[in-house]
Amino acid sequence: MKAIVQNEYGSVDVLELREIDRPIPGDDEVLVHVHAAGVDPGVWHLMAGLPYLIRIMGFGLRAPKTRVRGTDVAGRVETVGNSVTQFQVGDEVFGGCDGSLAEYACAREDKFAPKPANVSFEQAAVVAASGFTALQGVRDHGKVRPGQKVLIIGAAGGIGTFAVQIAKSLGADVTGVCSTTKTDLVRSIGADHAIDYTQEDFADGRQHYDVILDTAGNRPLRHLRRALAPRGTLVIIGGEGGGRWFGGVGRQLRALLLSPFVRQQLRTFIATDTHADLEFLKELIESGQVTPVIDRTYPLSETPEAIRHLAEGHARGKTIISVRGETA
Ligand SMILES: NC(=O)c1ccc[n+]([C@@H]2O[C@H](COP(=O)([O-])OP(=O)(O)OC[C@H]3O[C@@H](n4cnc5c(N)ncnc54)[C@H](OP(=O)(O)O)[C@@H]3O)[C@@H](O)[C@H]2O)c1
Repeated sequence: MKAIVQNEYGSVDVLELREIDRPIPGDDEVLVHVHAAGVDPGVWHLMAGLPYLIRIMGFGLRAPKTRVRGTDVAGRVETVGNSVTQFQVGDEVFGGCDGSLAEYACAREDKFAPKPANVSFEQAAVVAASGFTALQGVRDHGKVRPGQKVLIIGAAGGIGTFAVQIAKSLGADVTGVCSTTKTDLVRSIGADHAIDYTQEDFADGRQHYDVILDTAGNRPLRHLRRALAPRGTLVIIGGEGGGRWFGGVGRQLRALLLSPFVRQQLRTFIATDTHADLEFLKELIESGQVTPVIDRTYPLSETPEAIRHLAEGHARGKTIISVRGETA
């Protein structure tokens, strides 16, 4: 089968379209014929091996342990292991699965759920990583409640477009921060207000928010706290940049250290993939409360181009790699 393989860390030039063996599912695993795979900044980090912190965390010191890139996926079940009970050959599924930038990908059955009936394989393929992060940021760490004023920084990005819709589904009054050409998009997915960060400073002290979710921008902690209500909650999800060793993590650590000493709650987290949340996201999509926003679609052979586009840091929703379209 064709797959995007890397044998060393580096720029997009380390990504090669190669012919490799098809994975063989274990007893509790499902082999999926991949129709589409989503990509996000995490794919870039694993490709580059940056910040170095991720190598120490177990992704491989000198080279990536998993040679086929990609995690998000949607496709059709090709074969199932002996003890698989939830899926049958031919089922349409989506979820998170290492090595999804390939014609076939394999993972435990609990990594998948039935594909939402009302969206395409391409839309379903971009849900897992960004959807988990947005859901857990808004619901579990932000604890967003109806009527609360919520600010989402990076509202037009992969996580931001999910976070805006999820916060609206919970009844919040949502303000999205993005660049000039994306304010229409941010309003179109339900934000009550959009702030163009090139024209307006959300931290000028005029507005205070009950919850701030920061997915981008790397504004200093003191700026974020200035925009937060006295007993508000800040959730730092991410933000690119920072040094080669720790990336943007310094800001997150400072928030955790300061939080016990101030009235505001300053939080951060690393998203986890759970089957319950995958089912929850499926329901949000099927009920029409969340619709994945698609930026660009690339064929598998142009994965390096897609990663280069993401690395520019100005995504407009999610980027898709259409696998079946190219290889069918
Ligand atoms: N904590 C976790 O578990 C977790 C999980 C996944 C990802 N992350 C991290 O979360 C971050 C966001 O991921 P993503 O997938 O949403 O990235 P993305 O799809 O690349 O989107 C980033 C968005 O931020 C916007 N942006 C850039 N500078 C900004 C600024 N100064 N103010 C406001 N918006 C700005 C960009 O567009 P415009 O500038 O054009 O508006 C873009 O839309 C990344 O750093 C990623 O590594 C964390």
